[in-house]
Amino acid sequence: MSIRTSLALALLLLGGAGVVHSQERMAGYLREEYSCIMCHTDKRSAFLEGVHAERGIVCVDCHGGDAAAFEREGAHARGFRGRLSKPAAVTLCLSCHSDIARMRPFGIAPVTREEFVTSRHGQRLLAGGDTAAPSCGDCHGSHAIFPRDDGRSPVNPAQVPSTCARCHADPGRMPQGLPTNQFEEWRASAHGVALLERHNSRAASCASCHGSHTALPPGVAEVANVCGKCHRLERDAYFGGVHGRLAEGVRSVMCIACHSNHGTEAPPVDGIRVLCARCHAPNSAPELAGHQLQEELLRAERAYAEASAAIGQLVRAGERTRDEEVRLLTLNTYLHELRVVAHTLDAEPIGELARRVESISREIRERAEVVAEERWERKLLIIPLWLGVLAGVALAARKRRILIRGAPENPEETGSGKGSGP
Ligand code: HEC
Ligand code: HEC
Ligand code: HEC
Ligand code: HEC
Ligand code: HEC
Ligand code: HEC
Ligand code: HEC
Ligand code: HEC
Ligand code: HEC
Repeated sequence: MSIRTSLALALLLLGGAGVVHSQERMAGYLREEYSCIMCHTDKRSAFLEGVHAERGIVCVDCHGGDAAAFEREGAHARGFRGRLSKPAAVTLCLSCHSDIARMRPFGIAPVTREEFVTSRHGQRLLAGGDTAAPSCGDCHGSHAIFPRDDGRSPVNPAQVPSTCARCHADPGRMPQGLPTNQFEEWRASAHGVALLERHNSRAASCASCHGSHTALPPGVAEVANVCGKCHRLERDAYFGGVHGRLAEGVRSVMCIACHSNHGTEAPPVDGIRVLCARCHAPNSAPELAGHQLQEELLRAERAYAEASAAIGQLVRAGERTRDEEVRLLTLNTYLHELRVVAHTLDAEPIGELARRVESISREIRERAEVVAEERWERKLLIIPLWLGVLAGVALAARKRRILIRGAPENPEETGSGKGSGP
């Protein structure tokens, strides 16, 4: 079997790839007698799929060599670079990707050497020569590479955490002393649950907070802005309040002091006072402010629950509840606002919102009470009616007895009979 026919056979055996354009490509490479994938069969998929294959970027563009030679010696010649080391791969990928003019037609943001070099990964790999740190291919793959929106890409938002965890959850790959629990904590957090279980792709994954190519832990001064990219209202409230106005050096109370960075959750409402007491002395003004906030939030939550229950009663009584439902929506909006404004720690707006929540709740409950009273009144009105019916029944029964005996009973007769006996 000639090399040419075996190549044709090999390409046919690629099978599955029945897409028209890849068949055309195969035919093209057949003409060019492309040798690399004859021997490197595990790289065939990369030859056919992925963004680079689509743009005709193939083996020799990255590895050099002669694709028209069918012996190893010949193929591995002509500027053959062999396997690229991790730092060499960075240089290779950047040779195209840092070139703005080259990337612009594809609408891809250029990746600059500077941004990668300033990341902890880049510092470790390029300056420190530490090959435990990732090169481009560790996060993207080196062969079949897909855009981030493609589910097969390891940097697809839903995949990013497990891509990072391949190293960051593996103590063998991490330097001594660096924790390896970020993935576990994140997965159980509000963000992990929203992304993995509720498929909310707007939730924060590792790269949302660390950046993809600039991966560094956000500095203390940056945290509020990192979180604030997505939680803008909370950030604004926070910077308008006592903690946010603290001078930069003193400002240790960032979002993560109360919410944690990886195990991010809203603190339980009945634990707010305890939370404040982590930093503030018992019965100090801030600790008491925390107690007050906790009480306002608990009352507001109770007011919401009671209003919903009242609407349930109205529905069961067969009443129309359109107005009440609209009011409940308004109440819920205020409750959300309250949770945001809580970040100012300013008693006045917090108290004002809490009062609004309670007043709407009261209106809804009052309507339910009025309806319940009216129902009672109606029940009371029915009582005379029932008495009448009962009387009627009694009368009818009496009549019936008389009819059965055929004659009216005569109490006087029996009475006199008894009396006259002796
Ligand atoms: C006749 C079979 C054959 C052909 C054709 C061939 N290779 Fe190889 N290649 C091999 C074998 C066998 C090895 C592993 C042994 C070695 O390192 O030489 C290898 C190794 C490699 C490596 C890894 C080198 C390393 O240092 O670990 C790269 C990269 C590579 N080939 C790329 C190519 C490219 C690109 C082409 C096409 C221009 C090509 N090969 C064509 C057989 C082939
Ligand atoms: C976009 C650039 C690029 C293209 C195109 C490319 N490679 Fe690679 N290849 C790399 C890099 C970077 C590495 C080293 C990192 C690694 O091992 O993942 C590598 C590693 C290899 C290796 C050695 C490690 C291994 O996985 O076996 C082989 C063999 C290889 N490539 C063959 C090929 C063949 C055959 C093609 C064409 C189908 C090809 N490559 C296309 C970038 C590329
Ligand atoms: C020869 C130039 C060239 C080299 C070398 C190269 N790329 Fe690309 N890359 C491109 C072009 C062109 C595109 C755009 C393809 C498209 O959008 O259709 C692209 C697209 C991508 C994309 C998808 C971006 C997106 O969102 O669509 C990723 C990821 C990527 N390359 C990573 C890499 C990595 C990692 C390496 C090194 C292993 C590398 N590239 C090497 C030219 C190159
Ligand atoms: C630590 C993992 C990691 C490393 C290392 C890495 N990337 Fe990325 N890269 C990502 C993530 C995550 C995204 C997606 C970012 C997003 O969702 O906005 C991405 C996105 C991209 C994109 C697509 C940008 C776009 O607009 O669609 C390109 C191109 C790219 N990276 C190239 C590279 C190159 C070149 C290197 C090496 C210098 C590299 N990456 C190193 C994780 C990494
Ligand atoms: C190939 C393995 C690997 C992958 C994949 C990887 N990292 Fe890393 N990462 C490292 C190593 C090694 C270090 C260096 C640790 C050190 O010395 O501080 C590091 C350091 C970091 C640091 C700095 C930690 C510190 O305080 O020193 C952050 C943040 C980080 N990585 C985030 C990420 C994110 C986010 C991803 C996924 C997008 C990711 N990494 C993917 C290996 C990896
Ligand atoms: C909501 C934002 C956020 C998300 C999501 C996030 N991180 Fe972090 N991460 C941070 C912050 C902030 C720090 C710095 C904490 C500090 O300085 O106390 C940090 C610190 C780190 C560190 C340094 C060591 C440590 O544990 O303190 C590593 C490594 C790291 N993150 C990796 C990851 C990985 C991997 C993921 C995804 C599984 C991830 N992070 C998700 C915000 C985030
Ligand atoms: C990329 C956007 C993004 C970033 C960055 C981000 N978050 Fe989130 N966060 C979300 C989304 C989306 C949710 C889920 C909302 C839902 O569906 O419950 C969420 C949920 C939360 C929750 C739970 C809210 C609740 O109602 O229980 C808290 C608390 C939170 N984030 C705090 C933070 C903190 C603190 C940071 C910074 C360290 C941060 N987030 C960074 C998008 C983000
Ligand atoms: C001093 C502690 C503290 C700090 C600092 C803090 N928060 Fe909060 N956060 C809370 C409390 C308390 C709640 C309300 C809990 C509840 O109602 O369930 C909350 C609630 C939230 C929620 C959920 C809101 C909702 O509508 O359910 C988000 C999101 C949030 N915070 C983000 C942030 C961000 C972003 C920052 C930094 C800019 C931040 N927090 C700083 C204590 C704090
Ligand atoms: C991570 C530590 C930390 C937590 C948790 C914390 N604070 Fe603070 N707080 C500080 C620091 C530091 C200051 C500035 C120094 C000072 O006045 O004690 C401050 C200042 C304040 C002030 C201004 C005090 C003044 O004298 O002007 C108030 C009010 C306050 N905090 C309320 C709260 C409330 C309410 C909570 C709980 C919801 C809380 N703090 C949780 C650290 C914290």
